[in-house]
Order: sequence, then C-alpha cells, then structure tokens
Amino acid sequence: MVNRLKSVLTEKLDNLKREARLKGEEKIILDILPPANGFGRKIVTEGNKNLINFASNSYLGLSNDQRLIKAEHEAALKFGVGPGAVRFISGTQQPHLLLEKKIAAFFNREAAMIYNSAYAANCGIIAPLVDENTILISDELNHNSIISAIRLAGVSRARKSIYSHCNMKELEKCIKEASENAKRAIIITDGIFSMRGDYAPLNIIAELADRYGAKFEQGIITIVDDSHGIGAIGNTGRGVVEVCRADGIDIITGTLGKAFGVDGGFVVTDKLIVEYLRETSPFYIYSNPIAAGTASASLKALEILESDEGLELLAALREKSEYFRKGIEKIGLKTIEGSHPIVPVVIGDPLKAKRMAIELYGKGILVIALTFPVVPKGQDTIRVQISASHTRKDLDYALESFKEVS
Ligand SMILES: Cc1ncc(COP(=O)(O)O)c(C=O)c1O
Repeated sequence: MVNRLKSVLTEKLDNLKREARLKGEEKIILDILPPANGFGRKIVTEGNKNLINFASNSYLGLSNDQRLIKAEHEAALKFGVGPGAVRFISGTQQPHLLLEKKIAAFFNREAAMIYNSAYAANCGIIAPLVDENTILISDELNHNSIISAIRLAGVSRARKSIYSHCNMKELEKCIKEASENAKRAIIITDGIFSMRGDYAPLNIIAELADRYGAKFEQGIITIVDDSHGIGAIGNTGRGVVEVCRADGIDIITGTLGKAFGVDGGFVVTDKLIVEYLRETSPFYIYSNPIAAGTASASLKALEILESDEGLELLAALREKSEYFRKGIEKIGLKTIEGSHPIVPVVIGDPLKAKRMAIELYGKGILVIALTFPVVPKGQDTIRVQISASHTRKDLDYALESFKEVS
C-alpha cells in the first residue's frame, strides 16, 4: 500500500538533497570523557574521534553535573522513570509542582507551568490565547516552534503580521494597523535568536505594547521565548528580560534543555493565565509531563543558578564568550556583535563554511555550519557555542584551528 507514497517521499527527499537542505546522517556520541591535560570534557564519536563540543546548548556545563545526576536518580528511585499518565489523570508528582513554584519565583511572577519541551510550550500556549478577533505579530526570524505554533493555532494570513528582524519601526506600524481591526493583539518574539546570538529589544516591545494597548478592547499581550537567553545571559541569568530591564513582558517561555542542562520547557506568567492554560492547552492536557527525575534535576540546576556558584558560572561564561569573540575578530573573521555565548562566525559562502566545519571536525572541534536557507543568503555562518565548562586551552585551541582552516 505504501509503495506509491514511497515514490512521492523519495522525490521530496531528493529535492531536499538537491537544495542542500538535508540534515543527513547524525553524529552518534558514544561516550563523554572527563577533563584532561588542560582541556575540558570531550565527546567521543564514531571512529573513536575525541572532540571539544562547541555545538552544545549546555551553556553552564550542567548537563554532566553529578549533583543533577544524583537528583534525577533519587527522584527516579522514588517516583519511577516516567509519570505513567498525563497531569490531570495521575501524572502530577511533587517535583513537577515544586519546579513550577521555583520557576515562578525565579522570575518573580505569579505562576509557572511545565511542558515537555519549549517547542511544546510555544505550540501549547498560542492557540488558547488566539481567537477570531486576535492579530498575531511576529519577528521574521522567530524559532520554528513559534512558526508551527501560529500555524497550529489556525491564524490566517490576514490575522498575522510579520515584521523584519528586530525592526521596531515596523513593529509599531503592525500594531497601528492591527488596532484598526482587532480586539486583541499578541506580539511574539524570540529573546535570543539562536542563529545569530543577538536579542530582541524587549524594553521597546513592552513599551510599545503599553503605549498602544488601550487601542485594543482586550489589550496587547507580549510573549517572549527566551530558550537561549535564560541561564545564559543577564547578571543573574534571567535572560533578555533582565538584560533589557523589560519587566513589562507578559508571558515568558523557555527550555530546561539548554542552560539548565536537562530537558523540558515551561511558561511563566500570571496565575489566571496559567489556570486557563492548564484547562485549555492540549499540549499540556493530553501529553505526559517530563519525568519526576528530570524535574528534580532541573530543580537542582535552578538551585545552582541562584547560588553564588551560579553567579560565578555566568561571569565565567561571559568572560569566555568575550575572549572567544575577540579572538575570532583578531584572526580577521567576522562575527555578529553581542555578548551571548552563541558566537556566529560569519563566512558568507556556503561551500567555504561547510569546508571549514569539516576541517575543524578533523582537528577535533565540533561546530555547525549554518547555510542558506537556514540563514539568509550571503550570511553562511559557523555557529560556535561557548560553555562555562570550556577551558582556556579549549578556546585557544579552537581559535588556533579557526586560523588554520580559514
Ligand atoms: C528559541 C527556541 N525555542 C524553542 C526551542 C526548542 O527547545 P526544546 O528543545 O525545549 O523544545 C529552541 C531550540 O532550539 C529555540 O532555540
């Protein structure tokens, strides 16, 4: 029965290959080696290749932290390795509630709610917040989960406005236009943009929402997905909201799978909105939550982030990111200005970017080449992600290698 379908799918795969959009074979990590000889942790891939990982979102190096592993283990011994049901049936375990309480307190907001990923959080919150009188306003470079969320919410072209990346003049224009034919507007943006490491000016977005909110019968709601910012930037790791001093942002979504080093996602906002989402968000209602062990490991990550050690990790991450950025510029390579641990090395040519990434791999450095259409034409980039667990020797070795292959 599937034979005819197979030929259609084969053609689609062939097209992806022709357009150089195939992700291709995945690299399999077989082991993780402890720090040695001045280098930090290394990953081992097939062919016994030892690599310094510059393509991980574990910005604070917590994914291998023994304290998180212990917390996960102890919770698993008590609650089992899976929840066995969705939240409202019998899947709500104590660590889930504790984590929600702690996340809310961390952001000084009334309530939080866990999803099983940030992707699910974005998809889970948009549809229940949109109705036929809503216009959704979105940055053109928002993450795929936001694009999917808007599609899943059934937002028609007429009810959607896309503004150029971080262009606040255009955003203002979108808001003014929306005020003529909508009762409610939702502005949604990434905090940190994952392909560039730059960030949305959330203070201006909150200010615009405040200024024009009265023009809408049901106001303007602002949402930021700061999956890459939380735990990575801001003096205390509260992400772009902290960097921009944008307390006026209404809803924050984020992941537990990057700086926290674990897995899962969350939304944090007002109590009533969370109460409403628990009753209406299908990704929450009909899908198992993260395991209690995962929630407990996340709680431990949050505890570390909020301690003096967390401040030290953030400071080290900042210092290392700056060191690497400056080093790249010294070599004569281009980056995008910023202070985030995502350091995009802009090559501007897809073949050269790919060739360099392969040669760096050969030297024991894992980085990802991002080429068109993942990034705009002419901005082909090698994305480097710094972690607090990288050593000076890791960074110097990577810089030296970049010099050799460029
Ligand atoms: C902005 C943004 N949102 C959401 C996600 C997805 O996070 P998760 O793995 O928790 O679904 C990512 C990950 O790449 C991201 O960059």
